[in-house]
Formats: sequence, C-alpha cells, structure tokens
Amino acid sequence: MEITVFFEPENVFIERLNSFKNVLYFGDYIRANDKDQIDTINLEDHYELFVISSNELSGVNNHVMENIGRLIERIQVIYSFRHIYINNPTKTTLKTLKSTFKLEISEPYILHSVSEEKLVKIESEFDDFLIGQITAKKKIIRNLLKLLIRTNNKPLVLMLYGNPGIGKTETAKFLAKQLNEGEIVREQMSMVHGEESLKYFKSTHHSEHSFSKKLLNRTSNIILLDEFARSPSYIQDSFLQMFDEGVYEDNNYSVDIRKSVIICTSNFLTEDDMKKNIDNALLSRFDALIKYEDFNDDEKELIIKLSINGIKKTISEKYASMVDWEKLQCFLIYNVKGLTNMRHIKGIIEEAVADEVLRKLKK
Ligand SMILES: Nc1ncnc2c1ncn2[C@@H]1O[C@H](COP(=O)(O)OP(=O)(O)OP(=O)(O)O)[C@@H](O)[C@H]1O
Ligand SMILES: [Mg+2]
Repeated sequence: MEITVFFEPENVFIERLNSFKNVLYFGDYIRANDKDQIDTINLEDHYELFVISSNELSGVNNHVMENIGRLIERIQVIYSFRHIYINNPTKTTLKTLKSTFKLEISEPYILHSVSEEKLVKIESEFDDFLIGQITAKKKIIRNLLKLLIRTNNKPLVLMLYGNPGIGKTETAKFLAKQLNEGEIVREQMSMVHGEESLKYFKSTHHSEHSFSKKLLNRTSNIILLDEFARSPSYIQDSFLQMFDEGVYEDNNYSVDIRKSVIICTSNFLTEDDMKKNIDNALLSRFDALIKYEDFNDDEKELIIKLSINGIKKTISEKYASMVDWEKLQCFLIYNVKGLTNMRHIKGIIEEAVADEVLRKLKK
C-alpha cells in the first residue's frame, strides 16, 4: 500500500483525483459506518484509491484522529485499495501516520508571484491604474525585483502607509491582478481581537476555520494584511516566522508561503509613529516601508475626470444625456479641493448626477 501526502490547495488536489475511476472517500466511509445516519452510503467491494482530505478530517473527533493509522489498516483490509492520497493533514495526524506507515510526501506546491514579463507589464501599466504616488510605485517595483532575484525563501514584506483613501489597498488589488490569476488572501486586521481571533490565527482545534487553512487553500500568492498595526501585538508576533522564512505555523499546520508578496497597510503618517506602535523585531522584517503621499490638486483633478468617465459608462443613455458633464466636472474640481480621501469621490459624483437628473425631470 502506497501512501502519498500532498500539501496543496484543495482545488489542485481534487483535480489530481480525476485520473482514478473508483475512489473511496474517508468521509463517506465514516458516514456509512455510522449506524445513526439515515443516508447510509452504499460502499462497493473494491476501490482503486482511498482519499483523506483536510475537509473530511475537520469533522472527525480527536479519538479517531489519534487512531487514524489503525483505522486505515482496518479499512484497507476490507476494500483492498493500493493507494492512499492524503491532503493537508495536520502536524499531529502526519506524526501519527508516520509512526504507522512509510509515507511519501510530495513536493510542496509552490505558487509563484513575480516573473520578468509580469514586472515589465506592471511597470508599464501602474501609472494608468494608480494616479500619483510616483515614489511609492518606484519603490514597489524595485522591491518586486528583489523578490525575483533573491534565492532564499523570504517572502517580500511591504508596509504601505499613509492617509485613508489614497491608493494603498488599490495597489494591493492591482498587484494581485498582475501577478496572479487567483484571488488575493485578505485579512482585515483591525477586526482582529478576542478569543475567536486568537483561535483563528493560532488554530487551537483542527476542525475550526483558521488562517493557516486559508493559506493552505490560497490560489494567489499575494497576502494583504489591512490595517496591520491595529491588531494586538500577540497576533502580530505570530507573523515573525512568516515574514522571515516564508512559513506560517500554528498548532495544526505549517504552511509554505515562500515567494509570496505580503502587503501590510496602515494609516500612520511617519515612520516614527510606526516604530512606536509596531514591535521593532517585527518592523525590521519588512523589506520596505513605503509612504503614500496626499494628492496634489492636479492629481485630484485627474481622479475626478477618470471617475466621471467611469460612472458615465455605467449610466443608461437616457439619463446620461440629461447631465451636463463638463459643468459637473468643473463644479466638482472646484468643490472637492479640500477632500483628501478619494474613497468618497464616486459617491459624491453619483449624488451630483442624481440631483441634476431630478432637476431636469421636474422641468
Ligand atoms: N492613487 C489613486 N488612483 C486612483 N484612484 C484612487 C487612488 N487612490 C484612491 N483611489 C480611489 O479611492 C478608493 C479608495 O482607495 P484605497 O482603498 O486604495 O484607499 P486606502 O489608501 O487603502 O485607504 P485606507 O487606509 O482607508 O484603507 C479606491 O477604490 C479608488 O477608487
Ligand atoms: Mg485600505
């Protein structure tokens, strides 16, 4: 009997199973075996492959987990499969299995983020996507290049800081789109507090939802920790090893996240402020602290023009023709000079458009 362990996202693992015709899933066996279950599953006599996925292990109690080796032996005698595939077992399960069987651990699944082609594309498209922030954009590209050329496992760890609504999260989204096909891994760190969060980040029980599971199943190598400094320091500390060696470790899992780009954001305005609020040991793990500057009037004007053009395209022809867009643009440029947070601009435009349409309708 050959047992292979795959540390890889669930969707990749599921695809691996396509080449087998006759597969017995651990969860199905457990349910069929449980006499109290009404929806008993009919099992066949013979299976090619036995599959234990991390999902299935989540529902299983500790007693079964501790005796998983013996349980597998018993099931094998009944169904005589020759292969077992195991996806993302916990550290304890792996240890128990190792003490009973000879395991083959497959090569870790590595999501790449940066390539020469992608970097050139980012360089050429960054300015169209993100207005201003010239120094920040230059620094980001320089740092992505660092990730491309270095040979160690350290991920690229960036801190983007500055006032709200000036493009920090927008940058992370742009990079995710350019660097990976998948979905960015995002945590709102200002929401992190209390026991639930502690469990989530340190994963005290294998059946619970956890950050490590989210990382194990990620489809993108861009990890965004928004408002990082607003999480408690005991949570921040759990990122030390991840920032250093590209490994995130909790009670249950050790996740390989090498070659990833970790973007933290915060609303500090100076490096000194940051130093007062983030532990020095952690801060020294950042590859760069990148300041986002407030917009000047020209940049604000450009954002207004682009936002107006964007909104114009989403409004039905009938109502769009009622609006004097030139006049609206002049009005907004004149009035939003004092506005720093660009998050509100789209709402302001939409309201101004609604007012104008209403006025025309009343005439
Ligand atoms: N430099 C920019 N170029 C173009 N649009 C921008 C820029 N900065 C902000 N915006 C607009 O403002 C919105 C909010 O920006 P973003 O979410 O990046 O803010 P942030 O800097 O992350 O703020 P916070 O610190 O509050 O999270 C974006 O969705 C975008 O529409
Ligand atoms: Mg943000």
